[in-house]
Amino acid sequence: MSTQIDHLLNETRRFAPKKKFVAQAVGTPELFEEAAADRLEFWANQARTLLHWDKPFTQTLDWSNPPFAKWFADGELNVAYNCLDRHVEAGNGERVALLWEGENGDERRVTYAEMTDEVKRLANVLTDLGIVQGDRVAIYMPMIPEAIAAMLAVARLGAIHSVVFGGFSADSLRSRIDDAGAKVVITADGGYRKGKVSALKPAVDLALADHNGMGEQGTVEHVIVVKRGGNEVEWTEGRDLWWHDVVPAASNVHQYEAFPSENPLFILYTSGTTGKPKGILHTSGGYLTQATFTNRVAHDLHPETDVFWCTADIGWVTGHTYVTYAPLSNGATQVMYEGTPDTPHPGRWWDIIQKYGVTTLYAAPTAIRSFMKTGRKIPKQYDLSSLRLLGSVGEPINPEAWMWYRKVIGGKKTPIIDTWWQTETGAMMISVLPGVAETKPGSAQVPIPGISLDVVDEQGEHVGNGNGGLLVSTEPWPAMLRGIWGDPDRFVETYWEKFADKGYYFAGDGARLDEDGDVWLLGRVDDVMNVSGHRLSTTEIESALVANEAVAEAAVVGAADETTGQAVAAFVIIKESYLAEHSIEGLAQELRLWVGEQIGPIARPRDVYIVEELPKTRSGKIMRRLLKDVAEGREVGDTTTLADTSVMSVISAQVR
Ligand code: PRX
Repeated sequence: MSTQIDHLLNETRRFAPKKKFVAQAVGTPELFEEAAADRLEFWANQARTLLHWDKPFTQTLDWSNPPFAKWFADGELNVAYNCLDRHVEAGNGERVALLWEGENGDERRVTYAEMTDEVKRLANVLTDLGIVQGDRVAIYMPMIPEAIAAMLAVARLGAIHSVVFGGFSADSLRSRIDDAGAKVVITADGGYRKGKVSALKPAVDLALADHNGMGEQGTVEHVIVVKRGGNEVEWTEGRDLWWHDVVPAASNVHQYEAFPSENPLFILYTSGTTGKPKGILHTSGGYLTQATFTNRVAHDLHPETDVFWCTADIGWVTGHTYVTYAPLSNGATQVMYEGTPDTPHPGRWWDIIQKYGVTTLYAAPTAIRSFMKTGRKIPKQYDLSSLRLLGSVGEPINPEAWMWYRKVIGGKKTPIIDTWWQTETGAMMISVLPGVAETKPGSAQVPIPGISLDVVDEQGEHVGNGNGGLLVSTEPWPAMLRGIWGDPDRFVETYWEKFADKGYYFAGDGARLDEDGDVWLLGRVDDVMNVSGHRLSTTEIESALVANEAVAEAAVVGAADETTGQAVAAFVIIKESYLAEHSIEGLAQELRLWVGEQIGPIARPRDVYIVEELPKTRSGKIMRRLLKDVAEGREVGDTTTLADTSVMSVISAQVR
């Protein structure tokens, strides 16, 4: 069977950056030339100029034992020093690091000097609790400044943090704590989400109680608790400590140690296909180099003047890299918001942008599409003119969602970067540098300077421009994962076995190269549909649906079909303004024909289901597997990773 993925969508719109933007852009064409001339020397230069090394490195890459890479291995640095103290020492201590906004309206401005002070105190507390280099600390917190301080204090000691998203259950928390063998948990009594205080400390108590249901002792010795939500909490004497008791009382003098570049920095769990959580391991020097670099050149970061806002939760890799590490390493000022976009009103994000003069917004397509659903009248009530760059991450962005983002949020003037990367890649791998290239709605476009990617067929051969196939990384990169915690075999099997003879990393995504060689992501290869022998990507059909003016969001799956092998089944969310005026049956029929007209009869959905919600993970990704169950009339599979587990019963009922 051919591994090529058919190409259906033809998007020809192009947007050149404005002259004024180009003139001030951080990312320049020369970066591509330098990287092409000597890739390793290029990264060595970035590492030397962007970071402070206590002991300079002499070797850039050690690839003698693939796929286990070492970057800048004989160099030594302290990641927290790079993110905090060095800015204070450079005279920027009074610069605001965090413009924090609580969901309930609380506000805090935290300067670099204050953040450094807090991190030093917490580092002293953790040292007193026995945390040393290599120990694991679990962080289970809301989006509050202390969460970032916790990550950096752990990093300062050369210990390893494992941040667990605050929306995860006690069970998920327990399995992650156990897998990492965490000694300390840092949490809060709760945090505000959707107008309510989430129960974080109770979940920690549950996770630690009666270990494994057999009364076993776990590895956790202490729990540090920030007071945020004001909830009453149960207390385990000797184990639990209030942050406000121990941190302010600790000394703010703390001499950091320098650690080897390959010292582990964090473990971040992704769900993986089997039940066992997969702990993606990242280390220090290479990770921080690529994070710092990409934030500068792709987000066009001007740390003195920009107000940066990456909306991701610190529980995801986007929050690790573009909330905690990169902006702080760059000495930037950023917004941090605790709550959900629609609390207490649907314009909350736009209100925050207006209030703080946000210049750079980095968000997920799922958020953009949900704003499309409620309509432009909401953002139109706010002054968004401070914005000068928009970014997208986490899923393919449909061309029409891209256009909406550009027009309604960006006022038709801001460049948009569509950035492709993964928990495993640690930092951006594909993105335009916004002052260098014309942008194309729906395409992530080109590898970052110094990154080597290709789109190949099943044999690992380059597919050539105009064709679709599998996205691979052909050379090691600084921020690459160094393994799966405690499971080196699984690391090799999962990412490196498919193209073992070529030494390629396979990302699991399909992609297409257009006539210019630019990359268009096509979704996960596992989701590719086979209709009458044609391999169709979910992304292009979904984009065609979203291009209909009635549609806000769409998910398609291949459902078993007697005649065609698989048939396209589409689940579609209609914009609120259209729902009132049109019948469901009429819309479904119209959309079936629409897809046929837009991209050809082969892609015309057999079924179109109009639904109110789509099943999404807590990080906002559509779970097509569950929709396939519905489309094929099966009992719906495991829904425990859904953000809202009730969604599937509503969809099943609607479909029936
Ligand atoms: O399928 C790709 C999709 O998200 C996956 C990685 O998810 P995660 O590890 O949670 O990291 C998300 C934040 C970096 C990828 O394998 N993905 C991410 N960014 C894009 C994307 N798909 C298309 N376009 C993107 N810009």
